[in-house]
Parts: sequence; C-alpha cells; structure tokens
Amino acid sequence: MIEASACSKIILFGEHAVVYGQPAIAVPLVDLRAHVTLQPSEVGLVFELPRLTESIHCDTTPSHPFCVLVQNFSQRYEHNLPNVCIKITSQIPIASGLGSGAAISTAIVRGLGSYLDIEIPLETQNELVYAIEKLFHGTPSGIDNSVIVFEKPLFFIREHALEMLENKLPFRILIGDTGVTAETHVAVSAVRQLYEERTSKTRAVIDEIGRIAYEARDCMKRGSWRDLGALMNHNHRLLQTLTVSTNQLDLLVTQAVEAGALGAKLSGGGRGGNMIALVEERDAENVTEALLKTGAHQVISTLIPSVTR
Ligand code: MEV
Repeated sequence: MIEASACSKIILFGEHAVVYGQPAIAVPLVDLRAHVTLQPSEVGLVFELPRLTESIHCDTTPSHPFCVLVQNFSQRYEHNLPNVCIKITSQIPIASGLGSGAAISTAIVRGLGSYLDIEIPLETQNELVYAIEKLFHGTPSGIDNSVIVFEKPLFFIREHALEMLENKLPFRILIGDTGVTAETHVAVSAVRQLYEERTSKTRAVIDEIGRIAYEARDCMKRGSWRDLGALMNHNHRLLQTLTVSTNQLDLLVTQAVEAGALGAKLSGGGRGGNMIALVEERDAENVTEALLKTGAHQVISTLIPSVTR
C-alpha cells in the first residue's frame, strides 16, 4: 500500500486582494493534513471519499475534478492510468478557508507519483494542482496550492516567482472555526461584482490590503508582534468593506481582541469558515475560551515557526 499526504494552510494577510495582483502572506499548517492511500483495484481508477458511500469511477465520471487531475497527470508523464483505488481521508474541515481541496489534490498527485515510481518536482505538483483549483474556484490566485505544495510560509504575488517568508521569532495563532461552510468561489465572485460596480472605491481597498501585506512582511522580519496584530485588525476592517465578513466572524474577531489577542481577522474566502487571532502565550488560554464561549465550533492553536535565511 502507498500512502501520501499534504498539509493545510492559513492566510495571514491579503486574501481577496491577492486575486487582483496584490501580495498576500500564507503559512502551512503542517499538523492538519489530507491523506491518501493507494491499492490495486479491479475496476479501473476509483476514488473513495470520506462520507460518500459510492466511489467515483473515472471511467464513468471523467469530468470529476479528481479524475481530470489524474488524466492531466497521465498526459504529463505519458503514462497510462493504473487500475488503482485512491482512498482519501482528511483532517481538514472542508469549505472553511484552510485549503482542503488543494491539499487533497496535492496528496493525490504525490500518491500517484509514488505508486508509479515517478518523482514529481514541486513545481510540477503545483502546476497540476493549480489547474484543478481553477475547476473548483474559477479564478484562484494560486496562493493556496503554492503554500500547500511547498509547505513553506510565503509572501505571494500572483504570477511572480515565489518568495519564502522570513520570520524572526515563532508566534502563536489561534484559528477559530465558525462551523459555517462557505465556498471560496462565491465570496470571490461577490468581490468581483463589487469591483465592477464600484471600481475606484474597491480598488483603493484592495491596494490598502496590499500595502498592509508589505508592512506585515517587515513586521515578521523584525518580530514586531504588536504592530502585526494592529495590521490584522486593520485588514479585517477592509475585508468587511469587501462584504466577505459576517456577523459571526466580526463577533469572534472582537471577542478575541477583548480577551487579549494582539489582533484578529477573518482568514481565507470569508462568509463563514475561519478567523485567526495573534496571541502571546500567556493569553492563549483566555482567548481560546472567549472564542469557544462566542460560539466557535473549535479552536486550533498553532505555532508559526521562525524562518531565517
Ligand atoms: C482563498 O484561500 C484565498 C482567496 O484570496 C482566493 C484566492 O486567492 O484564490 C479568497
């Protein structure tokens, strides 16, 4: 049996604006992963998904995104698709801004590579997964697949070379889950509509989010957590203007800050999904309790490691 996995991600700064060419900052969540196992099958290439009683047969449903992924793989490597059962399991909540789709696609590419004994460079994994992200999300910036495939903190600008992020000191982020699923493409379309209807105002908000991401990169280089927290609060207000927050997200953000977080904001597509709070170690418990009391379904605590060049 072959096994493979891929991590999830959170966006610290710049979601939505990144679709319009502004920078964004994202970090991998290495402990929260999607997994695949591959075993020979007698019925062609099939996927088994959690909570789906019926398997997906690529012979009969070739347009399913995962089937498109393996077909793209087979074309790229000029290799016939094997008769294999790919069983997917995932610890990552779906449609919640943590990159569940990109993580599953990445695990599939890695698993198939191992099964066929083909070494797939990270760049190629990223291209294969990005093509499927487009099927799921329409106009993705590419940040989710990039941070997940490379499993490194990134300062990401669409269609630019990837920049690995420097981070002077480790810092703790709490991730508060609203429990509300929200498709990224719906929020992205809503921002697109706003952009078309009120272009100059929306452009100004997007540019300001981009400016925050540059400042946040400097803060992480210096280890200035207070400034980083203030930037998160500012970024959240701008995301509200883009109509991607909700009352529940706003409440979680406010309560986190009241309980001692240095800053908080929604993370990912919004309209549900997750929010994040930057906390000092001594306040982590208080803030976690406040988030749970305010209705967060779960709170994940993660330490963003230091990364120096
Ligand atoms: C989704 O994780 C991030 C968005 O900026 C969409 C994208 O970048 O493709 C909302």
